[in-house]
Amino acid sequence: MSLLEEELFPSTPGKFKIDRGHTMSRHFHRCFASTSTMFLWALFLIALTASYLSFQSFIDSGSKYFSASWGGIQWEKQVRNSAQIQRSGGMSVLVTGAAGFVGTHVSLALKKRGDGVIGLDNFNNYYDPSLKRARKSLLNKRGIYIVEGDVNDARLLTKLFDVVAFTHVMHLAAQAGVRYAMKNPHSYVHSNIGLVTLLEVCKSANPQPAIVWASSSSVYGLNEKVPFSESDRTDQPASLYAATKKAGEEITHTYNHIYGLSITGLRFFTVYGPWGRPDMAYFSFTRNILQGKPITIYRGKNGVDLARDFTFIDDIVKGCVGSLDTAGKSTGSGGKKRGPAQYRIFNLGNTSPVTVPTLVSILEKHLKMKAKRNIVDMPGNGDVPFTHANISLPRRELGYKPTTDLQTGLKKFVKWYLAYYGYNRGKVVN
Ligand SMILES: *[C@@H]1O[C@H](CO)[C@@H](O)[C@H](O)[C@H]1NC(C)=O
Repeated sequence: MSLLEEELFPSTPGKFKIDRGHTMSRHFHRCFASTSTMFLWALFLIALTASYLSFQSFIDSGSKYFSASWGGIQWEKQVRNSAQIQRSGGMSVLVTGAAGFVGTHVSLALKKRGDGVIGLDNFNNYYDPSLKRARKSLLNKRGIYIVEGDVNDARLLTKLFDVVAFTHVMHLAAQAGVRYAMKNPHSYVHSNIGLVTLLEVCKSANPQPAIVWASSSSVYGLNEKVPFSESDRTDQPASLYAATKKAGEEITHTYNHIYGLSITGLRFFTVYGPWGRPDMAYFSFTRNILQGKPITIYRGKNGVDLARDFTFIDDIVKGCVGSLDTAGKSTGSGGKKRGPAQYRIFNLGNTSPVTVPTLVSILEKHLKMKAKRNIVDMPGNGDVPFTHANISLPRRELGYKPTTDLQTGLKKFVKWYLAYYGYNRGKVVN
């Protein structure tokens, strides 16, 4: 505690005894002897209190800056080390949403082959943040540094680009989920349209990075033509989530057109696997089956089962890395376009839709437990009845070829789930 604070708020009264007591007390005595001097002293104390309080509020308002989890020489060193390229012709990649499901796997794959990686994640609590923390420790163990921050924080992004000349940005940070948009619509605008902040920083960077980012198969919305091809219409979104992803495709197109940023948008089809997102059906089904709780299975119009083109995480990672590898260079610099730049959109799916009841049967088999099915008609809240990707374009351009079917992929997921949550042969161990 500073002397100033002790004078104003003596917490231990006895402590404020001054050894030079005699001279001091005589001095004090003389000062307070006249009322006018006492008035001056009172004024002085009030002024002191006021300045102390205003100093405190200055510290509080500035605390975001002073106590920020980033900045400083040590921090910059960690960022540089993590972004260090370890192979010839390698790249340095800023991965946003790095503690997310896809972000974690893509970061690990890049690091493993010798690319430099810096992760960014805001660790929000849309789903259990402890899972994000666990993914973060996994990344840290492999030498990947995760900056805690938001894609809307232009100052942080600018700083990162000052420290590292990123060749690529893998933008995976987003507000996911279709039904949650009815509860928290603004979160979708904040995170998914927050893409603008990132693009602003990227367009001003010199050199500009090439950007690969996650759109979604949900942009196909109410389309009934299957399989979904990239050139099909995407102007009938069925959820706010889909609408913000579609907006992202248009916004990135603008930045490509005006500033020469190289852009690749990836429409992911129901990605699943180890370290997955707890808000997704296969994940919560697994949890409920293990806990003996019923699961809700939605059924479409006329009793038709919902179907999804489930895509295993390893296949998605190959598509992401393939996109980074084939991305053309951005053509602009320092906010100016110098020529046309690449703009691409790819489906990353599995081309083999599976119905939800079949998904449940596969889980039952791997878990060796029966599900309590609660079948209800699908409410009109944003879910589409089916998805099915046409992947001939990414096959041709990226060499994308998914190799994991739902049986195999779910087996790997269940194995991870049981280990991560401490189950052993269906029994809780801890
Ligand atoms: C799949 O997409 C390609 C374009 O990449 C298109 O030429 C082809 O007709 C599509 N196939 C089907 C079955 O829609």
